Amino acid sequence: MTLRSPRAQNSPPNLKFIETKTVPIDEAREVLASLTQDPPRLSPKYFYDSRGSELFEHITELPEYYLTRAEAEIFDLHLNDIAEALGSGDIIIEPGSGNCSKVQPLLERATPSAFVPIDIAGDFLWEAAATTALAHPDLSVTAIAADFTMDWNFTDKIPHGRRIVFYPGSTLGNFDPAAQRGFIQKLAKVVGAQGGILLGVDLHKESTVLQRAYDDAAGVTAAFNRNMLSVVNARTGSNFAPNSWQHQARYNTKLRRIEMELVAQSNQSVTIGGQTLAFAQGAVIRTEHSHKFTLENIRDLASAGGMTVTHHWLDRQSQFCLALLQTD
Ligand code: TRP
Repeated sequence: MTLRSPRAQNSPPNLKFIETKTVPIDEAREVLASLTQDPPRLSPKYFYDSRGSELFEHITELPEYYLTRAEAEIFDLHLNDIAEALGSGDIIIEPGSGNCSKVQPLLERATPSAFVPIDIAGDFLWEAAATTALAHPDLSVTAIAADFTMDWNFTDKIPHGRRIVFYPGSTLGNFDPAAQRGFIQKLAKVVGAQGGILLGVDLHKESTVLQRAYDDAAGVTAAFNRNMLSVVNARTGSNFAPNSWQHQARYNTKLRRIEMELVAQSNQSVTIGGQTLAFAQGAVIRTEHSHKFTLENIRDLASAGGMTVTHHWLDRQSQFCLALLQTD
């Protein structure tokens, strides 16, 4: 781990930037392995190149995609209560902080002593963290460039105090249930005694509302899903024809999750890492799960990590939930 020196020179005095070493992996092999599973899958990490990030930002503004607005409304409606539940002087840790926009109301109202954004996109992280540090000169910002889904070998760089992990956006729902529990357990260890997790998750509801949110009329989510094939092509040298695949998003009511898929529109042959895979017309590649939650689910998750849901807040239509889990 090193401090990135060229940036350190014009870095705000209250910003520390830490870059972790990433182990290079053979993505062609990784993609081949996941495509030969049953059902074939691609990792959601391939959603995000610069076009993918732009498309995702567009998704959050779509009329059908209520999640981002509902979560923002929770902060509008309940910010005083949330701030009171957190107290002041906390260390706020945000895995997958992106542009650091979601945490701003908390930084303003809850008066933490430190903010620790963690994101894999190092350059983007530096910009967002520097902007945040400049806007809050009394806040100590420790930005960590790392893949937060891997081992948290950077935990000793996180300042000590009452630690609160802020994990909004229903990102937890993109993990499968066992991995959700594993992640909550990992976070519970990171925050330790008196720590907490401020968790934003989407709630189970009527299928049509959910399906529309992931299959919008303007086709932005479809473009986002198909863009994954272009990202895989660029990163592995494969030759997917993105326009020959159709976006599909269905709500599995039993497993309470949106299943996002790409469906081959005609017979496809794709070469990756020297191997050729055949996909018959109608073949399906699963690209993302987005689990939906009940309050009971959230309580079970908390207890898996030795925590309790001490508070929860909803938007006006009870579509989304922000829950505070605290160590017992
Ligand atoms: N976690 C959010 C959700 O599940 C955002 C998200 C992740 C998303 N992957 C996505 C949204 C794919 C649309 C499509 O809604």
